[in-house]
Amino acid sequence: MTKLSAKNILIGISGGIAAYKSAELVRLFIKSGANVRVCMTPGAREFITPLTLQALSGNPVHTALLDPEAEAGMGHIELARWADLIVIAPATADLMARLRIGMADDLLSTLVLATAAPVHIAPAMNQQMWAHPATQENVNILKQRHHIHGPAAGEQACGDVGYGRMLEPQQIVDAVSATLELTHTPRPKTLAGHRLLITAGPTREPLDPVRYLTNRSSGKMGYAIAEAAASMGAEVVLVSGPTQLDTPEGVRRINIETAAEMLEAVTSEVPGTSIFIAAAAVADYRLKEVATKKMKKQGSALHLELEQNPDILAKTSLGNPDLFTVGFAAETDDVIHYASGKLKRKQLDMIVANQVGNGKGFDKDSNQVDILTAAGGHFTLPEASKTQLAFEILDIINTVYQQGQVRLT
Ligand code: C5P
Repeated sequence: MTKLSAKNILIGISGGIAAYKSAELVRLFIKSGANVRVCMTPGAREFITPLTLQALSGNPVHTALLDPEAEAGMGHIELARWADLIVIAPATADLMARLRIGMADDLLSTLVLATAAPVHIAPAMNQQMWAHPATQENVNILKQRHHIHGPAAGEQACGDVGYGRMLEPQQIVDAVSATLELTHTPRPKTLAGHRLLITAGPTREPLDPVRYLTNRSSGKMGYAIAEAAASMGAEVVLVSGPTQLDTPEGVRRINIETAAEMLEAVTSEVPGTSIFIAAAAVADYRLKEVATKKMKKQGSALHLELEQNPDILAKTSLGNPDLFTVGFAAETDDVIHYASGKLKRKQLDMIVANQVGNGKGFDKDSNQVDILTAAGGHFTLPEASKTQLAFEILDIINTVYQQGQVRLT
């Protein structure tokens, strides 16, 4: 695992000779586990072909703003929402001037305006152009909005010597990783003073010392919510089943394996909690009697007696009427119908519903959800990265939660 694993990175390339190094940049980001898409300005295509970048990134390259075919595939707003990070390398003097004044006259500048993700810029140009007061003024303004990496000093393609060389691809990857704690533009601390308790990942129900029953769950959605909540100022406790994910910064994580252990951890953490979000994929059943030794093969069929696990969410919600509770419903069909049934049955304040199966939902880095509230509210959030969705879900939770607090006082 690297910090870049599973991050959606959009690499923007503008028209300078350093564009040939962008191929290596794409390769390094892919190697570090990121999902990469590339957007090129028309000028960039004079220096490197889209085909090279398509082959390296494994995705079609985005080049035009007004291309109906490309928009039908992944439109510019979708692409802007897909990105967890935008890395522009090389950024020419012209592109930086356009970004400074908020132009949207090509796909890349439009994406920078339309995204909530942080933008990293690696300038590259002739040393005289870099030193020009116009460029320096643009850079100083852009520094207030984005991360600027470089340029370095040295020999230039034009024969000049001075500041203007793009950083080497590995230096750009290192610089982006180093600032990754700031995965989003600074968020107002709207959850400050609140404690959020979040469950995530699968549970494991042992059959014997070497085998277990489990659910398909990467834990990505719950971890993204925990990370986003911490960056919005909340105190966050994450009760997690086994996952491959790193603990997000500022989050206290309690590791569990079984549903019974998850219930115990949740119950002991509820006092002092304002909002409980159950994103875990809890196994509904466990073995009635777990074998103490490895089970041996016994003929052509094996019969296991299972008993129901506690419903952690329902139990916590019904036992703590003042706790704001949010459930998740992953369904293969009739999503809204089933989610609304769970909202009522488990007496939740809110449920986040998403369609799974057919390549949707599981172990993916993006998702599409509907949110239903106890008061009859219905929000549809378009497909976006799980990181982006986490912030949107938390904004809705916070708004509904605060309304409830006002009514109570
Ligand atoms: O009923 P179903 O399992 O589909 O409900 C999903 C919601 O309930 C999720 O929020 C999940 O985390 C929670 N849940 C739970 N304990 C269980 C089963 C589900 O907390 N035993």
